[in-house]
Amino acid sequence: MGIVLRGWGSALPEKIVTNADFASRLDTSDEWIVARTGIRERRFGGSTGTLAVEAGQRAIDQAGIDPATIDVVVLATTTPDQVMPATASYVQEQLGCGGGAMDVNAACSGFVYALVAGAGLCEVGAERVLVAGADVMSRITDQDDRGTAILFGDGAGAVVLERVEGPGKLLGWDLGSDGSLRHLLSCDAGGYTQMNGKEVFRQAVRVMVDSCSKTLARAGIAPADVTLLVPHQANTRIVSAACDRLGIPMDRTALVLERTGNTSAGSVPLALADAADNGRLADGDIVLLCGFGAGMTWASAVLQWGA
Ligand code: UT7
Repeated sequence: MGIVLRGWGSALPEKIVTNADFASRLDTSDEWIVARTGIRERRFGGSTGTLAVEAGQRAIDQAGIDPATIDVVVLATTTPDQVMPATASYVQEQLGCGGGAMDVNAACSGFVYALVAGAGLCEVGAERVLVAGADVMSRITDQDDRGTAILFGDGAGAVVLERVEGPGKLLGWDLGSDGSLRHLLSCDAGGYTQMNGKEVFRQAVRVMVDSCSKTLARAGIAPADVTLLVPHQANTRIVSAACDRLGIPMDRTALVLERTGNTSAGSVPLALADAADNGRLADGDIVLLCGFGAGMTWASAVLQWGA
C-alpha cells in the first residue's frame, strides 16, 4: 500500500501586520527584519480550528471527494484551541469527516510528522486521511518582545491523502528529535514563546541538512533531482544556508514567509499549496518537505507529485 496526495488547500487570516506596524511601537525597523529574516508581513487572527477548517475544506473541494469518506483527521498544531478536546475533533465535525480525529504536536515539524503518520494510517487500512497543519502563533507570542514578535504569524494548510495499491508517492522520510535541546525554544502553559534565536538558527541549518540528506538517500534520489524544496518558513537565511550545503539552488525552493512569517505547523503546507496553486508542480516532480523546530524536532519527506 502507498499514498497519493489528492488535494491541498491553505488559509490565512485577513488582518495584515507589517514590519512598519512593529517599527511604530518597538525598537526595530523594516530593514532589520527583512535583512535578518526575509519577513515583510504576517497575518494575525482566527483560531487554530477555524483556519484548519478553511484549509481542509479547500483540500477536500479540490480533491472532489465526499468528506464522510475521510477515515482520520490528523491536525498538527502547537496552539490547540483548548487543552482538550483535540482541535482535530472540531475540524472533523465542521467538515463532516468520518472516522477518527487527533492532534499531533511536534511544533514547527508537526505537519511533516502528521503527513508521515497519515501515510502510516493508510498503510494499515485507512482509505483517506486529512492531514492539516495550523497554528495561531500570535496567541503565544509576546507582542512587546522584538526578538520574537516580528517572527511569527497565523495560518494553516491541509492535504488529502488517499491509499493506493503499490508503492505510492511517498518515497522516503525521516523524523527526529533531540529533547536535550528543548530549552532552546519553548512556551510554558499560559505563557509566551521563549527562544535562543542564534542557537536555534545554528541547529536548524544542521538538522535541515542532515534530515533532508537522510530522506533523499533512503529514497535513492540525488539533490539535483529535487524539483522543489518546501522548507519550514522560519528565516530565509536558514533556508539559504541549508540549500548551499545540500546543493539545491534557492530558485528551487517554495518560500511564502515574506508574506506569512513563521506560522509553525502551518508553514510547510502553506508553502506547498502556494507552489501548487502557482503551477510550480507537474506530474512526476520530486518534492522535498522539511520542518524543524521546538523539541528540537525535525522531519523531512520526499514525494513524487501527481495522483
Ligand atoms: O520555528 C522555529 C524556528 N525558529 C527559528 O528558526 C528562529 C531562528 N533564529 C533566527 O531566525 C534569528 O536568530 C533571529 C532572526 C531570531 C535573530 O537574528 P540574529 O541575526 O541571530 O540576531 P541576534 O539574535 O544575534 O541579535 C543581533 C542584535 C542584538 O543586538 P545586540 O545584542 O547585538 O546589541 C539583538 O538585540 O539584534 C538585536 N535584535 C533586534 N534588532 C532590531 C533582536 N531582534 C531585533 C529586532 N529588531 N526585531
